Amino acid sequence: MCGIIGYIGDRPAAEVIIKGLKRLEYRGYDSVGIVTEENGILHILKGAGKIDEVVERLALHRMPGKRGVGHTRWATHGVPNDINAHPQRDCTGKLALVHNGIIENFSELKEELIKKGHSFESDTDTEVIAHLIEEELKSGESFEKALRKALLKLKGSFALGIIYTEEPDRLYFVRNESPLVLGIGNGEMFAASDVPAFLEYTNRVVFLDDMEYAVVTKDSWIVKNLITGEPVKKEVREISWTLEMAEKAGFPHFMLKEIFEQPRALRDAIHGNVEAVKLVAREIANYDKVYFVAMGTSYHAALAGKYLFQRLAKKVPVVEEASEFRYEFEELVDERTLLIAITQSGETADTLAAMKLAKRKGAKVLAIVNVVGSMATRIADLTLYTHAGPEIGVAATKTYTTQLAVLTMLAIELARILGTADEDYLKKLESELRGVPDRVEEVLGLSDSLRELAENLKDRRDFFYIGRSIGLPTALEGALKLKEISYIHAEGLSAGELKHGPLALIEENVPVVAIAPSGKTLDKTMSNIEEARARGAFVVSLGDSEKLRKVSDVFIEMPKLDELLSPIPYIVPLQLLAYHLAVLRGNDPDKPRNLAKSVTVE
Ligand code: G6P
Repeated sequence: MCGIIGYIGDRPAAEVIIKGLKRLEYRGYDSVGIVTEENGILHILKGAGKIDEVVERLALHRMPGKRGVGHTRWATHGVPNDINAHPQRDCTGKLALVHNGIIENFSELKEELIKKGHSFESDTDTEVIAHLIEEELKSGESFEKALRKALLKLKGSFALGIIYTEEPDRLYFVRNESPLVLGIGNGEMFAASDVPAFLEYTNRVVFLDDMEYAVVTKDSWIVKNLITGEPVKKEVREISWTLEMAEKAGFPHFMLKEIFEQPRALRDAIHGNVEAVKLVAREIANYDKVYFVAMGTSYHAALAGKYLFQRLAKKVPVVEEASEFRYEFEELVDERTLLIAITQSGETADTLAAMKLAKRKGAKVLAIVNVVGSMATRIADLTLYTHAGPEIGVAATKTYTTQLAVLTMLAIELARILGTADEDYLKKLESELRGVPDRVEEVLGLSDSLRELAENLKDRRDFFYIGRSIGLPTALEGALKLKEISYIHAEGLSAGELKHGPLALIEENVPVVAIAPSGKTLDKTMSNIEEARARGAFVVSLGDSEKLRKVSDVFIEMPKLDELLSPIPYIVPLQLLAYHLAVLRGNDPDKPRNLAKSVTVE
């Protein structure tokens, strides 16, 4: 996730852009850059570091010109450094652009462009877009046509701000699967990833939809369809948010905003890993001894990964908390071992220690990480990124579901390489996975009814979350979310384990949350639900079958999906339930007591 902003009008563009970038800093903060234009010349200044630092170091506020675009980066392709910072430009230096999103097919496009004589400065996927437009312009097309032709070759997500010296009075903005909104001023226009970037100047906005682009001059704007080039009728809306509300996109807390960002984050995680998982799965296929290590929510993703690997690739990985792994497995790790570390931050001390130990013993180390350039990525031999964007709420939400998406893709690819599952089935799973962001969107529609449920349950003391097989990690993660932010005692356990002890704690009205997607274990889980109900439990179940509804006090209807894909949508109502309970109990869900986002001590 990155933030982009553009300005055209009579003010010094750099000043407006710098202010906007500061408001967008929550979207990314590893590098910053601006391009402005004056007298037909582009001025580009950019560098790695936080906004204030880079503004100061490069004197960005002194840049000339009254039109320009700027970018705050959250690295996806290419480490955070000065060259990979945006804007990126074409070979002529006449065109520069900023980008938020991920181009899935950038390596093929880059190869073709290099063959055609283009030279690249950076490791970014973004630079490919600038050269592609340049290439299309060679055939003498109008800029707009060349732009459209180039962009239609891209696969993936992109919000773009583009400046071209030969089109002196305008800026171009494009949106596909990454947010972009225009700000309509008087004799000046703005565009940004998010409203707060320009809210100080105007509250009149136009939201672009996917596959739309805008041509903006200081006095006019028009939105067109990227495929047809035809104008699209758009409504100008007036925003009544305060600045603080706007930074959270109108949500009262970052956690809720991040929960609602999951469809976008999942799309990026899926688009961004199509090629990478192939490479990594080939590596995994060479190892018999596979360990997953992680902590907290990432540990639950690792557990889900184990079920996926077992079921699809018939490979049984060992899953350990990183803090345990270091002491228990030292003797067992050798050069025939593959260690897969899962960590959002890439800085969790125990996880890093496990990775270092594995390296020391000659093992291969793979990391699944959200923060590009973090320590884990420097230790690992290979890294897959979850592309969730910065997560500010302490309780992990979108970073968890994107970890699950990456693990699912990895398991599918591994099964394909090892020939352990039918290719038609794997194809069907892949296509269902591509639909999962939409399914999550549907589940988010349950937020209001989950708030009502939370009203009902807010004074309960103990919760039990049960699930079997691939539903078990969801039960554990659901319980963790509740503990972390609502401070209610919660236990996650396998449904089968219930009657081996915890059932003694079930009495009248104790909530039991059952994760019960249709599949191998539904009937068994239903028997466990009945056992709990017979002792007075208040059963909230998540599933997709009518028979489950009949044995539940509250039935949360989930989309029908292959049960191996259920962990992603099924955790969403549990995140929302925990969130609403926390708020109703007067807690700040973004900053739970005693907890930290990144635990850098052992
Ligand atoms: C802390 C955070 C959790 C997170 C865990 C592991 O406990 O509060 O949300 O799951 O660390 O963090 P990592 O960055 O390694 O995924």
